Amino acid sequence: MASKIILHVFLLSLLFIFIPYNQNNSCASYLGYLFPSFSNDCYHNPDVDNNITNIIQRHATSPETHQVQTQDGFILSLFRIPRENPRGVILFQHCYLCDARIWVTQHNESIAFLFWRAGYDVWLGNSRGNFYSKRHATLSPSDGEFWNYSFFELGYYDVHASVEYIKATTNHSKIIFMGYSLGGSAGLVYSSMRPEDATKSLRIIVSIAAATHFRYAFGPMEFVTSFIFKMQSFNNHTGIYSIGRYDSWGLKFFRISHRLFPFKKYLPYAISFFFGWTPDEMDPSYSNLMISQFGSESSLNIIYHGYQQRLLGIFQAYDYGEIKNMRLYGSTNPLLYPLEKIKVPVFLVYSYDDWFCHYKDNELVHNRLPEEAKIYGKLAVEGINHVDFAYGKRRNQEVYNKILKVLNSLPKTFD
Ligand SMILES: *[C@@H]1O[C@H](CO)[C@@H](O)[C@H](O)[C@H]1NC(C)=O
Ligand SMILES: *[C@@H]1O[C@H](CO)[C@@H](O)[C@H](O)[C@H]1NC(C)=O
Ligand SMILES: *[C@@H]1O[C@H](CO)[C@@H](O)[C@H](O)[C@H]1NC(C)=O
Ligand SMILES: *[C@@H]1O[C@H](CO)[C@@H](O)[C@H](O)[C@H]1NC(C)=O
Ligand SMILES: *[C@@H]1O[C@H](CO)[C@@H](O)[C@H](O)[C@H]1NC(C)=O
Repeated sequence: MASKIILHVFLLSLLFIFIPYNQNNSCASYLGYLFPSFSNDCYHNPDVDNNITNIIQRHATSPETHQVQTQDGFILSLFRIPRENPRGVILFQHCYLCDARIWVTQHNESIAFLFWRAGYDVWLGNSRGNFYSKRHATLSPSDGEFWNYSFFELGYYDVHASVEYIKATTNHSKIIFMGYSLGGSAGLVYSSMRPEDATKSLRIIVSIAAATHFRYAFGPMEFVTSFIFKMQSFNNHTGIYSIGRYDSWGLKFFRISHRLFPFKKYLPYAISFFFGWTPDEMDPSYSNLMISQFGSESSLNIIYHGYQQRLLGIFQAYDYGEIKNMRLYGSTNPLLYPLEKIKVPVFLVYSYDDWFCHYKDNELVHNRLPEEAKIYGKLAVEGINHVDFAYGKRRNQEVYNKILKVLNSLPKTFD
């Protein structure tokens, strides 16, 4: 049965393989992609295959690029879409296997531009190892030790360094943090592990579909992650410590096959199959844009660690086994992130249709937060899966405009 489907897809693909990839690279409907030159639905979008500087330049203003070094030696890039006399300063933190491009690859309706137009000074973070943050004071990406990080380091070091740098550069005493998926988790790790710093530096944490306990995670991602988890010894043995490099063969193949018509329509089904069944929510016009800009390297430890959390249903630091835990954390159990210590207001955003970062896991986080962190409430949405938070048709209307409203209502006293 499965082989029949594969053959079917393959033959169907051959039918379209000779259609030239013409100037029209974006279509408002899936059918448009069949003959993009002749469809009124289609147009040329210069953002496809373009770089982040040019994309930001085209829709907003000339971006600035900054470098910051973390306490443990990683050199991170930050992109800034500057704004004079802003309403506030926002640091956006991206998802796993993503980078700053996730915030600017929805054409003129991109998330970063929405907030920039509303008067915010926008900064796009890049965590260690990704497309833009491959440097370290002493290590190189070919060293295993370079990739020896997980949730903890992304929050404790990367978010910390980025926040401090932005505060110093903008001369704002407090900024806004907004993280999506693993970026949201990094914000929670940072603010629970460095509660004093976070209270001093942040006005609010907006956590969108954060990856935390995975207690209620649902769907075939379980099999994917358990498979990768079981490969851990083999991967260590063969020196494979990272995944998702933009120019890896796997992603090159993915990008080429996506140029064939049938895959355009399969993409929202594939994403829905893994992350929540909302295939009509994905905007067809983002199809090529998303794929041409997807892929950014990160540590495999994050998958091992995520799966470990899944098995235990707990949001905690990496479990190295009793002996090493004792040495690293001072107890045989690994460190549980102390969410109850967070004092900064946290605005949790999540979806009832996200199978991966399940709404019940987000509610667990909410329940563990102290009252003072819950003053702005939370936002639960429907009909949006985990990926739709980035590329869904209704994401601005249902999610980001509502976040904007909360941010616009914050007291201005701290700038
Ligand atoms: C993007 O390309 C332009 C030239 O078109 C170049 O000046 C710029 O540095 C590039 N940006 C990045 C982030 O590579
Ligand atoms: C984006 O471009 C489309 C098509 O040109 C236009 O209809 C829409 O209003 C634009 N959106 C914004 C926020 O400028
Ligand atoms: C990764 O870090 C842990 C904890 O600091 C350490 O025990 C381990 O040896 C490191 N592994 C590698 C491959 O560097
Ligand atoms: C930064 O802000 C402080 C007070 O908040 C002010 O005294 C100082 O002049 C400002 N520095 C710059 C470079 O704007
Ligand atoms: C694999 O290497 C990572 C560090 O990169 C380490 O944390 C983990 O314990 C190792 N796992 C095994 C099974 O060797």
